[in-house]
Amino acid sequence: SKGEYRHFMLKEIHEQPAVIAAALEGRLGDSAVLVESFGPEARALFERVQQIHIVACGTSYHAGLVARYWLERYAGVPVQVEVASEYRYRQVVVPEGTLFVTLSQSGETADTLAALRFAREKGYLASLAICNVPGSSLVRESDLTLMTQAGPEIGVASTKAFTTQLAALMLLTLALGRSHGLDEAIQSELVNALRGLPRLVERVLALDEGIEALSTGFAEKHHALFLGRGAHFPIALEGALKLKEISYIHAEAYPAGELKHGPLALVDSEMPVIAVAPNDELLDKLKSNLQEVRARGGELYVFADEQVSLAEEPGIRVLHLPHVHEALAPLLYTLPLQLLSYHVAVLKGTDVDQPRNLAKSVTVE
Ligand code: F6R
Repeated sequence: SKGEYRHFMLKEIHEQPAVIAAALEGRLGDSAVLVESFGPEARALFERVQQIHIVACGTSYHAGLVARYWLERYAGVPVQVEVASEYRYRQVVVPEGTLFVTLSQSGETADTLAALRFAREKGYLASLAICNVPGSSLVRESDLTLMTQAGPEIGVASTKAFTTQLAALMLLTLALGRSHGLDEAIQSELVNALRGLPRLVERVLALDEGIEALSTGFAEKHHALFLGRGAHFPIALEGALKLKEISYIHAEAYPAGELKHGPLALVDSEMPVIAVAPNDELLDKLKSNLQEVRARGGELYVFADEQVSLAEEPGIRVLHLPHVHEALAPLLYTLPLQLLSYHVAVLKGTDVDQPRNLAKSVTVE
């Protein structure tokens, strides 16, 4: 039941501190990830991994895109990420030592399942499913599995399934890192940061009133543009997808550096621009992108680290988030975007939990 909440989506957004904790439960040692969490054969298999192919659909695909940044940076393993409907019809080249990873809330998405079956003929080292539904087809047919422990997700728009997938993908990054030369001090730093994550998620959810206040700026708009850089580009994609599917506002996401290569032409006072701007090495570059938007009269909404001094001025609304380890920022910055879409949809009076034309589990191609 929805309990005290008006919609399942809102309830599921608020379950995130607890389910992220559940996704980490029993999988962290003092200063390293317990590799056996991925199964008894995982340790020996992971040592042989030379690259990774990640395949998924929709929101799960966005989780894969974030993981690419993590896996390449911390485990030094080359990663390809692709939507399942494209992957399954391609002549995929599979180099030796490639791990095949699927991501899925339901474990029944037709294209993702077909991709796994197709991959089986391709000589992968092994397949790993990161999935939320025990006993689902994807789980049954994969060599290794890691359950995301998010509990049933009823709202069609995926929220807690996504953030628990990210938590699971950080575990995968650290598990692979152990056999791929990741510095032990960094491992232990990330393990600590993961432990602190549920508390930080709670603190971000407590900002809901401020996020709701921003939503009024969107209800009358027909378009919105989401910007991010690095691992926050996929978060911008996910923010745009959430807004589209539940509020029916046309939204697009761009890596901030692409703005002047086309989309800037769309920016005017009718186009709100949402920027995900945590405090990482890309912030200065993002700041100059923001100026480009302001110069064209675009209304800006910036989600930034509390340590960033970014002044509110006419046309710029800033919402500060608690400081978080840079690696985990994509996870934290997902939350205000979920809440923003939710409030915009409520203002517009759409069916939040059952958006038109969509099904929770896409079991046909
Ligand atoms: C978006 C959403 C969909 C799913 C996609 C894959 O909010 O829910 O984009 O993410 O249909 O579903 P799973 O993860 O069940 O394979």
